[in-house]
Amino acid sequence: MNVGFIGMGNMGQMLVTALASTNIFEPGELMASTRDSDKLRRLAGALPNLRVAYSNRELAQRCQTIFLCLKPGETKAVLAEIAPYLSPDRLLVLITNTIDIPKLESTVQCRVAKVIPSMVQSIQRGVSLVMCGERCTAHDKAFLLRLMGAISDPIYIAESQARVASDLTSCGPAFISYIFRAMVHAARQYQPDLPIDTLNQMVRTTASATFELLARTGLTFDDVITRVSTPGGITADGIKVLDEQLAGVWEQVIETTLIKEEVKKAKVDL
Ligand SMILES: NC(=O)c1ccc[n+]([C@@H]2O[C@H](COP(=O)([O-])OP(=O)(O)OC[C@H]3O[C@@H](n4cnc5c(N)ncnc54)[C@H](OP(=O)(O)O)[C@@H]3O)[C@@H](O)[C@H]2O)c1
Repeated sequence: MNVGFIGMGNMGQMLVTALASTNIFEPGELMASTRDSDKLRRLAGALPNLRVAYSNRELAQRCQTIFLCLKPGETKAVLAEIAPYLSPDRLLVLITNTIDIPKLESTVQCRVAKVIPSMVQSIQRGVSLVMCGERCTAHDKAFLLRLMGAISDPIYIAESQARVASDLTSCGPAFISYIFRAMVHAARQYQPDLPIDTLNQMVRTTASATFELLARTGLTFDDVITRVSTPGGITADGIKVLDEQLAGVWEQVIETTLIKEEVKKAKVDL
């Protein structure tokens, strides 16, 4: 089955690059188009398995499944371009939460689904979120889970759950990196004689080992916190500061992304 990706920006390039290195496509089945033909030529040179289409129309004509890897504001123009090919036998896949599936369904005749990727799929890891619209078949759902399963751990959710889930999986790498960066910066203030590279290595390696510990042993986050912070000990006092200072912070982060998404949604014209 031909699968096409329109828009070779950060996400589009990441997805086709990750998928091109799997063995799930027959030659020529993975296609890409974007408005910058030089970029497309470079990508074709780097990924021999990738078939490029020098127009969105050509891609839409050839592909049964079409991913729109565009900024929300760029979607209307591309939809107008490929409209003649969006018949009910096609599956159109959004990768943004800024456009709701029912909104897109009201403007096209094809089936509509959504996949929210995460930059960690560039190393074929992490969680992707998969959602299906009302017209999608059981086969569409199975197909998307299999496709994304080749480069991630896909989780099927309702679209109403997408914003909060995306905070964890898609914004997650940024939020998690932010915390680690703050740990390094604070340590640097108190111990300027330790090189920044060493501090980075300490945090990165400890984080990586902690995640592996959680995965291998089945310990929960709570278990790790309890085991490291013995009552009356030094870690326990550090945790107390975190409890006091970070109370409500993550709720505020989620609240903020929810509000921002609603504002952005209201501005999208299809
Ligand atoms: N960043 C993340 O971690 C993340 C995670 C999940 C979802 N998303 C979603 O992914 C979507 C894309 O984000 P991005 O960071 O990949 O954006 P981006 O880098 O701006 O990529 C958009 C691409 O679409 C191309 N394009 C624009 N109009 C086009 C047209 N008419 N025909 C063909 N190609 C066209 C652009 O071409 P040019 O190169 O010429 O500009 C660009 O390559 C966003 O909606 C975002 O919400 C992002």
